[in-house]
Amino acid sequence: MGSSRLICSFIAASLIHVPLSSGVGSCVPRGSPELASITIQATGRNLTLVGKRLCWSDALFYCRDHHWDLLSIRGPEDQEMVDELVASTPFPLTRPLWVGLRRSIRGSSWFWMSGDPMDFTQWDSASHHSSPCGGVSSGEPSTWRPGSCREHLNFICFTGTTEVVKRYFSSSTRENPTCQN
Ligand SMILES: *[C@@H]1O[C@H](CO)[C@@H](O)[C@H](O)[C@H]1NC(C)=O
Repeated sequence: MGSSRLICSFIAASLIHVPLSSGVGSCVPRGSPELASITIQATGRNLTLVGKRLCWSDALFYCRDHHWDLLSIRGPEDQEMVDELVASTPFPLTRPLWVGLRRSIRGSSWFWMSGDPMDFTQWDSASHHSSPCGGVSSGEPSTWRPGSCREHLNFICFTGTTEVVKRYFSSSTRENPTCQN
């Protein structure tokens, strides 16, 4: 599965298509890999909260390698599943947790990396949207907030999308390599 190359510079080289700069190497997962994870079955999808802590781009890569994608939250039911998942997790969690929230390079619109439409939002009203990567706080009820893309956080993956969706790849992050700033 290539986990030995699961570092941010690999993402920058293979997916984002930007020349590597010397600054990239600083974004390497710290500590020994945490293998714990917990999965729940939701409406047509399985949600897996991963015990590893990775920067946003590596979390995306990990989910696409082992599951389907970083989680998209399509409505209140999905949000409740997140709360349930967090509440039933036996290991310590970071706040926030990464999900597939990404802000467009120009402008302030956010989208799901999975390609799901963003008909529903649950932003923390106090958040300043200065970062292009988004997660969910692990409170009850959980809210969405941007976080520094380089932060090593727990994250939620999903499998089993029922609709044909167009996932976002390199073009969405090309000018904003997550681990360089
Ligand atoms: C969810 O996980 C179960 C158990 O591994 C599996 O049988 C099922 O096909 C999965 N469902 C989806 C939608 O991925």
